[in-house]
Amino acid sequence: MIIAIDGPAGAGKSSVAQRVAEELGFQLLDTGAIYRSVALVSLEAGLSWEDGPALGDLASQLDIRYQLRDGQNRVFLRLRGGTERDVSGSLRTPEISQGASKVANHPEVRAALLELQRRIGRARPSVVEGRDIGTVVFPDARCKVFLTASPQERARRRHTQLVERGATEVPTIDAIAREIRERDTRDSERAVAPLRAAADAVQVDSSDITEDAVVARIVALASPDKRD
Ligand code: DC
Repeated sequence: MIIAIDGPAGAGKSSVAQRVAEELGFQLLDTGAIYRSVALVSLEAGLSWEDGPALGDLASQLDIRYQLRDGQNRVFLRLRGGTERDVSGSLRTPEISQGASKVANHPEVRAALLELQRRIGRARPSVVEGRDIGTVVFPDARCKVFLTASPQERARRRHTQLVERGATEVPTIDAIAREIRERDTRDSERAVAPLRAAADAVQVDSSDITEDAVVARIVALASPDKRD
């Protein structure tokens, strides 16, 4: 049982996916965390983020486990033959965000991670959040949502987040919106598994509705699956 939630950065996927998973008692599979883990481990191993074959080999040795508890989705990583460790605190730095988007461009990495994502997702009822879940990873998911928000609204949210975090240099909302549009173009035009809505996905625009409403909408869409 898979609920696929795809969409661009800043549309509110992470918190929405987490709340939907909690409400339904499903596992939350944050696939971005897997790409981030590859970036982290390759950085530690001294591999270049441009070396597709080496990164693909590394990705094929990766195992990930999640634990959703007290509103936090912890990520545990293990390389074949190694011991498991909690990497939750190391995945969200700007450096790893950059690295994740670079490693995600290599077909070797995407192919290796495809199997891992499918294995984790098939083990338990799951909410799977990412960019290519409804199109590539779980094309047979019975509930697919493509969550969007206007670039202006995503920029506004990102701006508020930076201010709340006490960031020292906060760009203007217009500058953030420009950067978001550029990233959208790059993500949707990438050759392998570009960001796009599956033909059978329900598009949910979160620009003008509350997060509560988005969560309720997705839970309602998933409910017929639950009754099966
Ligand atoms: O969702 P996120 O910001 O944690 O994702 C990190 C990077 O991983 C992002 O730049 C795009 C990539 N990614 C991907 O290519 N495919 C996915 N299913 C999930 C993430």
